[in-house]
Order: sequence, then structure tokens, then C-alpha cells
Amino acid sequence: MAIQDPVALDTAKLEQFVFKAVEEVGATLNAALVVMGDKLGLYQALAGAGGVTPVELARRTGVAERYVREWLNAQAAGGYVSYDPQGGTYTLPPEQTVALTDEQSPAYLPGFFQLALGSVIDSPRITEHARSGTGLGWHEHNHDVFDGCERFFRPGYNANLIDAWLPALDDVIDKLSAGGLVADIGCGHGASTILMAQAFPRSRFVGSDYHSGSIAIARERAEEAGVADRVTFEVASAAEHPGTGYDLVTMFDCLHDMGDPAGAARRVRRLLDADGTWMIVEPMAGDRVEDNLNPVGRAYYGFSTFLCTPASLSQEVGLALGAQAGEARIGDVVTGGGFTRFRRAAETPFNMVFEARP
Ligand SMILES: C[S@@+](CC[C@H](N)C(=O)[O-])C[C@H]1O[C@@H](n2cnc3c(N)ncnc32)[C@H](O)[C@@H]1O
Repeated sequence: MAIQDPVALDTAKLEQFVFKAVEEVGATLNAALVVMGDKLGLYQALAGAGGVTPVELARRTGVAERYVREWLNAQAAGGYVSYDPQGGTYTLPPEQTVALTDEQSPAYLPGFFQLALGSVIDSPRITEHARSGTGLGWHEHNHDVFDGCERFFRPGYNANLIDAWLPALDDVIDKLSAGGLVADIGCGHGASTILMAQAFPRSRFVGSDYHSGSIAIARERAEEAGVADRVTFEVASAAEHPGTGYDLVTMFDCLHDMGDPAGAARRVRRLLDADGTWMIVEPMAGDRVEDNLNPVGRAYYGFSTFLCTPASLSQEVGLALGAQAGEARIGDVVTGGGFTRFRRAAETPFNMVFEARP
């Protein structure tokens, strides 16, 4: 056996890496701090309030002052609030106010953090599944995953779905305006289904998801939104979605979570009218690993490790495309299901929107 030369260690690079890790440990804890501030109403109370002391914030929110003070200091150290040492006051800047309190803004962040924290909370179970190669179903996660997912995706759908993504598809706006039939498969809490129903009052919508807990919440959301007369939600896997003759089938951030996406593609082909459209919204990703080694890819590979890959592995076939599958692999799945036309119709920094036609 050849004796290898000792590896030269660059101590400056080592130190740099350790300091990067300090920042990341702070960021890991910050995910929980943001969810804490969101759940305790601390951001809402700070919004537009100018500089407040911990005592004032504690009084406004009913949270114990000692916790509020420590939380505020952590938020100030992370740049989430600003601190004025003269008055001992803390301020939520206007940009953070939008990102942390305005649910209508596309920049709204609490759902993103809640989804990340929910994923981390379940990470010990994923660690054990990784030893055996088994999966963990979406339905087996904690509530922060389901709730965080809805709250994370909805602002992006509000900003893009009706005004940009659907108009990028051939013929779809005309059909839905006149009164079409739409299936939203893997709909979760139904945010996308309800948004489309509100925009197209002459159309009918059938949302489905294999997770019964999500469908129960989707039904409540449809009642609250006043669209329950035109929207039904069914507990069904993609392979079991009911009906035929759909003008549009949609899948929002779920095709890659399925164990058998090729089987789902074959099912969609049978569900659709001969001239129908399948819209597939997937996380932004390039085709090669090296295309995704950036901050968005980092977050998505992380979610994929804890959520998407185990979800797919828990189901029959267990293809495990992962959240960074990329256009080429998604295209293979779609054309393998009997679709002859496939193209990228729209994109944002976070999503790719594909159109597939029979
Ligand atoms: C990341 S969530 C997206 C939920 C929703 N489309 C949204 O945009 O908020 C993925 C969803 O896919 C669902 N799902 C996973 N495998 C499925 C399958 N084989 N059939 C139907 N739904 C499935 C999960 O239950 C979950 O609700």
C-alpha cells in the first residue's frame, strides 16, 4: 500500500468554514424563532409600531417579557429587527414587515420557515429510514409540514397562477372562462383549486389528494371561500382520481412526490378530454446537479431529503424523482405517459410550469 502525502491544511480556510457554520447554526435556530414570533403574534404587534421596548411588546402580546427580550435580541442579531441602544427599542423595518406579516404579498415568508421547521422536526425519523432505504409518507408528517406547505405556496399562486401561469397555456383561459372542467391532483389544502374556482366562476373543479387530513381542510377552505357549490374534494391517489372529459388537469408541486409518476401520467391521459391540457408546476431546477448548487437548489434539496424523496419511496414503484428532477426527467415521465407535446410554458425563480398535451 502506497503511503500518501499528508494533506496540506489551509488553516485560514478552516477558520472561514467554522465561521460560516456559526452563521448557519444561527440560521437553523432562526427558523424556529420565526415560527415562534409568528405563532405568538410578535411580528404582527411589531408591524407599524415604530420602536418598542420588550416590556411594551410583552404587554401588547401577552407573552412573558423575559422571553420577548431574548427573542428580540436574537432577531436583532439576525437582522430581522433593528435595535436602538439609546432608547432600548426594537423596530421591524418596512421590508421585514411585508415579508413577515403580509399574507397577500408574494414575499410572505412565515410559511417557508414553518415548512422548514416541520421538516426538521421529523428529521430523526428520516435518519432511521435512510438506514433501511424505506420511505415516510407525506401523511405521516407533523402538522407544521401541511400548514407550512399551504402557507408557503399560496402567496406564489396568488401572484402567478391566474395572471401568468394559466395564460401561458394554449386555449386554457378561454375554456375556463366559458365553463370548463378541471382536476387539481395532489391538491393538499386546496389553495390552488380555490384560487382557480374564484377566478373562473363558470367552471367546475375536482381536487384530490391521497391524504384524508388535507382533504378535510380543503373542504373547510372551500366553504369559507364560498365556492363549495362548484368545487368538490375527494380522497384519492393520482391513479384513482375520478371522472373523464377534463379540460385541464393540474398538479402543483406534487408529481415528483409520487411513487409512480409515470402511472399518474397515464391516468391523466385518460382523465383528459382529447384536446385537454395537463399543467405541471414543479420546483425550479436544472437537469444536472451542478446547475442546482445555488441557494434555491440548496433549500429544495433539503426539502427533498426530508419530504419528497421519502414520500415517493413510501409508495408503490418508489421512483423518487426528488424535488430537483429537472425538465428532462419530468419530460420523460410525461411523454412516457402518452403525451405527444411537452414544453416549459412559464417560470419564476422558484417554479417551472410545464404544459403537456395528448
Ligand atoms: C408538496 S405537497 C403540495 C400540495 C398542494 N398541491 C400545494 O401546492 O399546496 C404534495 C402533495 O402531494 C400529495 N401526494 C403525494 N403522493 C400522492 C399520490 N400518489 N396521489 C395523490 N396525492 C399525492 C401529498 O399528500 C401532498 O398533499
